[in-house]
Amino acid sequence: HEAEMIDPFGRSIEYLRVSVTDRCDFRCTYCMAEDMTFLPKKDLLSLEELDRLCTAFVEKGVRKLRLTGGEPLVRKNVMHLVRQLSRHLDSGALKELTLTTNGSQLSRFAAELADCGVRRINVSIDTLDPGKFRTITRWGDLSRVLEGLEAAQAAGIAIKINAVALKGFNDEEIPDLLRWANGRGMDLTVIETMPMGEIDADRTDQYMPLSLLRARLEQQFTLNDIPYRTGGPARYVQVAETGGRLGFITPMTHNFCESCNRVRLTCTGTLYMCLGQEDAADLRAPLRASEGNDLLSQAIDEAIGRKPKGHDFVIDRRTNRPSVPRHMSVTGG
Ligand code: GTP
Ligand code: 5AD
Ligand code: SF4
Repeated sequence: HEAEMIDPFGRSIEYLRVSVTDRCDFRCTYCMAEDMTFLPKKDLLSLEELDRLCTAFVEKGVRKLRLTGGEPLVRKNVMHLVRQLSRHLDSGALKELTLTTNGSQLSRFAAELADCGVRRINVSIDTLDPGKFRTITRWGDLSRVLEGLEAAQAAGIAIKINAVALKGFNDEEIPDLLRWANGRGMDLTVIETMPMGEIDADRTDQYMPLSLLRARLEQQFTLNDIPYRTGGPARYVQVAETGGRLGFITPMTHNFCESCNRVRLTCTGTLYMCLGQEDAADLRAPLRASEGNDLLSQAIDEAIGRKPKGHDFVIDRRTNRPSVPRHMSVTGG
């Protein structure tokens, strides 16, 4: 009998997202302010502690583990954690070990990730124009990210490109991104911007409902809905003209919470039961209280028992205040 965690709404929680650091080498304008205060390094759980936490979740029924950040590959010695976690792939307990990355360090790590059993990764690229890429990330170098993609593909890792749809910034470019990604055998998902954390820009100006984007794309492409699912929130179409897949992630216009299967762990051991809610559980205290996992296991059960029904993000032009004060980089999306 396999372990399973069931929340109050009958949803099976089998996907754990782990933010291994809140730091990032980019400052995407929709994600962070330019001047960010990051957690003091002394507050971080060690890699061994993160491994213990992840392992406890795997024992309780998690089948898919995604490392996020900030940027996961800037966490010191992160490959040590990936290597440790890969034993759960070998044992069959875990179906997927993966990460969401900005790609800046990927050329260095791709081969080793593949060797640890990582089969698929998600890489954020909002534009293919090097100047615009620098603007949106505040200083990122697109060519390094593209080298990273090549290294990952050479290592046999499948790639999904994430692009946040931003009105007046990249909405006109999405057809090119789609042809480019699909033309190289990569899926593309477009994402509605979520009001998390104070940023320097006005989110109402950036926000782009994906229904509008889809209608525009349908003037150029034939989009056929397909049942392909990855365990994440994206709804996919097959694009006749490119032969590839395009996914829509629509937290603002089409709430997908009824099929939510995930929770999020931060690098300080806080568990967020929903991306769009403040309620969280501290797992660090029960983790450190004893060598055994009984207290931890109880704390996880208690947390899953209060998983909320869903998020209620609103983008409000009047206040322009984020629905959730913490930045996306705390929980890794
Ligand atoms: P796969 O489906 O496994 O490819 O990954 P994913 O789409 O779950 O993960 P990824 O890290 O690529 O996230 C893409 C976008 O989806 C990010 O903007 C996340 O913040 C968003 N996202 C993922 N899960 C949720 C969720 O439960 N709620 C909301 N509102 N957004 C989510
Ligand atoms: N809204 C939507 N997506 C965001 N991301 C970062 N901040 C936001 C936001 N406010 C995206 C990144 C990355 C993924 C993990 O989340 O671009 O692809
Ligand atoms: Fe870093 Fe990703 Fe946030 Fe950009 S979106 S600043 S790459 S964490």
